[in-house]
Amino acid sequence: RDDDGQARFEELIAQDSRVEPRDWMPEAYRKTLIRQISQHAHSEIIGMQPESNWISRAPSLKRKAILMAKVQDEAGHGLYLYSAAQTLGIGRDEMMQQLIEGKAKYSSIFNYTTPTWADMGAIGWLVDGAAICNQVPLCRASYGPYGRAMVRICKEESFHQRQGFEILLELMQGTDDQKRMAQDAVDRWYWPSLMMFGPPDDESPNSAQSMAWNIKRFSNDDLRQRFVGMLVPQAEVLGVTLPDPNLAWNEERQAYDISEIDWTEFHEVLAGRGPANAERLRRRREAHEEGAWVREAAAEYARKQAANAAA
Ligand code: ACO
Repeated sequence: RDDDGQARFEELIAQDSRVEPRDWMPEAYRKTLIRQISQHAHSEIIGMQPESNWISRAPSLKRKAILMAKVQDEAGHGLYLYSAAQTLGIGRDEMMQQLIEGKAKYSSIFNYTTPTWADMGAIGWLVDGAAICNQVPLCRASYGPYGRAMVRICKEESFHQRQGFEILLELMQGTDDQKRMAQDAVDRWYWPSLMMFGPPDDESPNSAQSMAWNIKRFSNDDLRQRFVGMLVPQAEVLGVTLPDPNLAWNEERQAYDISEIDWTEFHEVLAGRGPANAERLRRRREAHEEGAWVREAAAEYARKQAANAAA
């Protein structure tokens, strides 16, 4: 039976079709998806923190409403993704436990702090911009529930990216202090946003297999390059400078040359030593404990419903 399953699986991949939860799949494929989808879900949930930091201090009622909606969207993305991971046989409690015990990875980017309002602009423009660049191809991921979740997520990310761009645009048309604040935020978020795409291709252990399985469609470096190409004209419209003196169009390669990325910083953040890793996990644990009564109430409600149905 496994032989039949394997042949059918290989056929689905070769035809660029979708693998669905009930289909047979190799254990390594299942594991890879659980790894990537759960990390992605955790990123959405932890990613709520840097921005929720500004909800109470947003400069106007309208900005506050927009920011609240955006942070809620991230919670929703986390939920779609946890659900997609659950179809692979892992429980939500188990994933949550891995996160709060500090055993699970989530995106490096959310371990940076948000000291100014302009950070909301830079996160939307750069972080959500990078997220879209990486995630649009994931809409075609071979695993059905993941690809379908990504479609909706990308639509919402696209709104997030525009709202960030618009915050920066407004600041860049403001006072000198506001312009400085916008440029400072771009200076701080630019390199970390390039690191979001993951290690360089020759140091990316998972890429080859994930590409062969049609989970990833482009390499980390290719997506990073595409992202820089997207940013350059947008930075011009904004009037901000991308903080890389070596950024230049290379006619021969038909791509931008960029400076060497500081991979030591990336590895430090992954090892838990970024500017806000400890704070992010502490807050996540606290929220989990504070939510205990909701989980208990939901379980009790389910128990009563089941008892009523049986009666
Ligand atoms: N932050 C934290 N860990 C990272 C990052 C990052 N920016 N980039 C790579 N890594 C980790 C990988 O998870 C992997 O670790 P693991 O093997 O222990 O799981 C290791 O570094 C090596 O990297 P790769 O071999 O390149 O890993 P992979 O093929 O999974 O590619 C990538 C990494 C591009 C992030 C991929 O997992 C992906 O596309 N994920 C979905 C998108 C996502 O999670 N986005 C989250 C941020 S965007 C947002 O939430 C708004």
